[in-house]
This record gives sequence, C-alpha cells and structure tokens, in this order.
Amino acid sequence: MEKVLRAEKLTHTYSGGDPVIEDVSLSLSRGELYGVVGPNGSGKTTLLKILGGIIKPLKGHVEIRGKVGYVPQQIFVEEHFPATVKELITAVGGRASYDVLAQLHLHTIWDKRFVDLSGGQKKIVLIGMALSIKPSVLLLDEPTAELDVHFRKHILVFLKELSRQGTAVLMVSHDINFILTNADRVMVLCRKVEFEGSPTKAGEAVKRVFGMGVTVE
Ligand SMILES: Nc1ncnc2c1ncn2[C@@H]1O[C@H](COP(=O)(O)OP(=O)(O)OP(=O)(O)O)[C@@H](O)[C@H]1O
Ligand SMILES: [Mg+2]
Repeated sequence: MEKVLRAEKLTHTYSGGDPVIEDVSLSLSRGELYGVVGPNGSGKTTLLKILGGIIKPLKGHVEIRGKVGYVPQQIFVEEHFPATVKELITAVGGRASYDVLAQLHLHTIWDKRFVDLSGGQKKIVLIGMALSIKPSVLLLDEPTAELDVHFRKHILVFLKELSRQGTAVLMVSHDINFILTNADRVMVLCRKVEFEGSPTKAGEAVKRVFGMGVTVE
C-alpha cells in the first residue's frame, strides 16, 4: 500500500529539558486508520504537532505525500469572537466543510457563533475545516473526548468511511477501547514507542503503561 506519511526517529525537548518523545518512528499507508494511546503527558500531542508541521522536532524528520489536515486537542477563541460557523467555514473550508457538517447532521449550527457552540460541536466544526483541504493524512488529537455516545458513533462511522475512501487517519485518544476495537494499527506511546502493531496484541503494553486498573475489552 502506498505510504503517505513516514516519520523517522523523532526526538523532541521543550526549552532544552529532558526529551518528551524519543526515537519515535512510524509510517502510514493510504486508507489506514491508526490509533495512538498513552497516559497524560506521554508525548501524544507533541508527536501530532510534529507530524502536522506545527513544531519542528529536535531530531528526526517527517515526509508527507499530499496535504495534512490537523484537528487540535483544544482551541482557545476569545469570547467576543463574532464569526458564525458559516462565516468561518466559508472563509476557511468552503463547500467541503459544509458537506461534512451536513453528513453529521450539524447544519442546524450553521448560523450560530462559533464561540457559542458546545465543546463537541466545536470539535466537529474543526474536523470539517481540516477535511475541507482534502488532506491525504488527517491527524486528530482526541476527536471523541467531548462527544456524547451519539456523536462518538457518528464520528467513528465517518472516520472509517473516510479511511475506506483512501485518507490515512491518525487519531490520538484516551478512549483505549475505542482505539483497540476500531484502529487497523495502534501505537502505545510513553515517551518512547512501547508497542506498535495490531490492536489485538496491544493489551499487555496498554496495561504496562496505564497500570493494572485498565480493562481491555
Ligand atoms: N509548550 C510546551 N512547553 C514545555 N513543555 C511542554 C509543552 N507542551 C508540552 N510540554 C510537556 O511535554 C510533555 C508531553 O506533553 P504532550 O502534550 O505531548 O502530552 P500528551 O500525551 O498529549 O498528554 P495529554 O494526554 O494530557 O493530552 C508533558 O510533560 C508536557 O508538560
Ligand atoms: Mg495531548
């Protein structure tokens, strides 16, 4: 399968401190649904920011074929920011974003101000915007964190369909069972790569990094 992302031996430190990720390599093929799990502070967001070209790693390099879409873990918008969803999306994403919102039955929020949306609705607008550039690789940081059961299912079906159509989808999630049951391949990250491969074989590494309290279904 055609590789759309290759990352080699990524190491990063902030302000010259200890490495927060070390020697992390991964590759993504077209149409792959790839999950990254790991405890708080294990370097997941840092890895995603490097893959998305938002920060430059101290060592290592990233190659991407085509465009990369990035959905951040959090977004801070000033409370008086006046733009509506429609204005934002028309400016940034155009028609393709509207299609995403319509598919997710969110055209009802079209005329709302972005700042007035719920956390989950904001996340879906961000996904729509990231997709509107027609990325070959879509990076999502905690896409389901604020979503209710209904929207989580919607997003999951949507991301699976997206990968089926050829987009490589990489998502970071604390929802371990969600990743283990839905990803084609999974990485367990704890500064270094603790495991990489089939979700069916990740259980031991997951228990090791999260402690024995975690139940893998
Ligand atoms: N801008 C920054 N400046 C300094 N240190 C940072 C910065 N961003 C992250 N860190 C540190 O890097 C480490 C990894 O952070 P990162 O956000 O990548 O973790 P994470 O796995 O995404 O965590 P979470 O599950 O809580 O989102 C943490 O120890 C964090 O404190
Ligand atoms: Mg994070």
